[in-house]
Amino acid sequence: MDTRVALHDASQTLERPPRGTLAAVSARPSDDEDAVKIHPSANRRLKDFEAALGLTIPPPKGPLFAGVDLGTAYIVTSVVDADGAPVAGALTRSRSSIRDGLVFDYIGAINLLRAQVETIRRAGYAIDDAMVCYPPGTAGRNARAFANVLEAAGLHVTGLMDEPSAAAEVLEITDGAVVDIGGGTTGISVLKGGEVIYTADEATGGTHLDLVLAGNFKISVEEAERIKTDPARQAEVFPLVRPVFQKMASIVRQHLRDHPVETLYLVGGTSAFPGAVGVMEEETGLVVALPSHPLLVTPLGIGIRCARDARANVKPAKGK
Ligand SMILES: Nc1ncnc2c1ncn2[C@@H]1O[C@H](COP(=O)(O)OP(=O)(O)OP(=O)(O)O)[C@@H](O)[C@H]1O
Ligand SMILES: [Mg+2]
Repeated sequence: MDTRVALHDASQTLERPPRGTLAAVSARPSDDEDAVKIHPSANRRLKDFEAALGLTIPPPKGPLFAGVDLGTAYIVTSVVDADGAPVAGALTRSRSSIRDGLVFDYIGAINLLRAQVETIRRAGYAIDDAMVCYPPGTAGRNARAFANVLEAAGLHVTGLMDEPSAAAEVLEITDGAVVDIGGGTTGISVLKGGEVIYTADEATGGTHLDLVLAGNFKISVEEAERIKTDPARQAEVFPLVRPVFQKMASIVRQHLRDHPVETLYLVGGTSAFPGAVGVMEEETGLVVALPSHPLLVTPLGIGIRCARDARANVKPAKGK
């Protein structure tokens, strides 16, 4: 199983912007400035989670908690200890089992998640209690279907939560806009006082960047995705995908018109593309904060919430 894909550390990009056009186009804040916008402990935990995906951290004594993100591009499971510190995890391509936040191939999703659960357990991490997140605006049946996938994969579901709240859990924020640029969609959520007060989902995500590159170079979308995620090629292809980022950013701007915020937090794997921050800043005029490993934010947040609810001895709602 491909649990060890090369994850892009977005903060590395900030430290070493590629030469040429990209650095010029996306005048981005220095790493120090960005650290002010992203809570340092959030970036630390994300880095720890990336390391934990290697399943080499000795399993701690005491209970463990899991968080599952069933995404269009990746199924990601986080495993944290009772304090919410990451200790293990798994990351697998979704292989079309989930599409745009809906369970598309139920059995396929169960099989992929079950393989993750077995791998994690075989490595010595005794997971059972777990939470799962659903795209905002899809509570109800879809969220229940997500919970059923977890139960069928051998986990005990203690609760469900929406994706932006999971991201907020890691970022330690209560206010601002969380913009989640994933594989299939871009989710825009506005938080005020810790509550999600507005949410929207637009059908433009990383897949659309792949399609643009595939069309341009006359290659498969798989090859296009490889180029897109190769740090050595990203500056070269930025002019080609820039209009897609501009479209995403203009959609975000429209949604935020009636819901003004000061800070926009970029999460989701596509946010790791160097240039995403710059375009978003130009289009919205807002302060844009990018955590390290944006792809891991939401999955880690679910695990952390699972542990926190257990600590608080709260019995979370089991879906509607
Ligand atoms: N370094 C990178 N640069 C650009 N894109 C990247 C990078 N790393 C991952 N991606 C892209 O991020 C996307 C996956 O992100 P993520 O895991 O957040 O999506 P998802 O949750 O599976 O999808 P969705 O939220 O739309 O259901 C893929 O399109 C992938 O190609
Ligand atoms: Mg996602």
